[in-house]
This record gives sequence, structure tokens and C-alpha cells, in this order.
Amino acid sequence: MPRYRLRINEGVLSVESDADKPLLYVLRGLGLTATKFGCGLGQCGACTVLADGTAVQSCQMTVADAQDKSITTLEGLGTAAKPHPLQAAFIAHQVPQCGYCTSGMIMSAAALLEKNRKPSESEIRSALELNLCRCGSHTRVVSAVMAASGQRG
Ligand code: FES
Ligand code: FES
Repeated sequence: MPRYRLRINEGVLSVESDADKPLLYVLRGLGLTATKFGCGLGQCGACTVLADGTAVQSCQMTVADAQDKSITTLEGLGTAAKPHPLQAAFIAHQVPQCGYCTSGMIMSAAALLEKNRKPSESEIRSALELNLCRCGSHTRVVSAVMAASGQRG
């Protein structure tokens, strides 16, 4: 089986894997379980991570395609002691209900804020349109992203 060198959360990891294995499975196998398996079909956004700063669905990216990119998961965004502004805002706005979608929501929002520091509500909704929440937390998500970008949420 081939071996791949992956740059994940500023570290370099080597994994043995079939070339077409989804990055999602590799991440979870490495213990990075913040990234969730929802549908496995590119339809829910629960598996969203950053690849070179762009939000991607890790169930749709192979390990072979990931090896040249810098991958960031929720674990690489912030810590409990030093949360990313989005993580702090999601906590302050009590966004999660079951929490299954939350990691993917935050990663999509992080990609948005990297490109657009003060997005409008409609820009936030558009950036998060591929992230589904079965618990209906979308309104709180938008408020939290507004707050994290220094706007009234
Ligand atoms: S698990 Fe990847 S989009 Fe649903
Ligand atoms: S909080 Fe339950 S799926 Fe979003």
C-alpha cells in the first residue's frame, strides 16, 4: 500500500493508505474526530475541513489529492484554553444543539472570514449553504459568525 505525507494542523504525518481513500476516514483514523461523517456523499458539510485555506468536504477528497495541501481541522483552529473567535462565538451564542454539524459549520465560516473579514448576513448564509443542520441552529450560526467578525450578532 502506498504511503502519503500529509500536512495537517501545522504538523506532518505519514499514513499508509489506498490512494482513493477519503481524507475524512484518514483524519478520523488519526484520532482527529472533530471532523464528522454525515452522509459521505458531499451533501451535508459535516466533514468540512480547510485545504490551503479553502473549505472542502473531506469525504469528497482522496488522501492522494490531500497530500500536496495544507489541511486544517477544527483541532487546528483553536484550543479549549485559546479558542478561535468563531469557537468562542459559537459557545457564547449557544449554537450547538446536538453539535454534529458544528465542526463543519465553523470550518466553512473560518474559510469565509479569511477572505472576507466583515461578511454580510447574506454572504454568511451563502458561504454556509452546503452545511446542513438537522436541529435547525442556522439562525444562531449566522449570529455567531456575525459576532466573530466584530459585527452585531
Ligand atoms: S459527510 Fe461529507 S458532505 Fe456529508
Ligand atoms: S446542532 Fe444538531 S445537526 Fe446541527
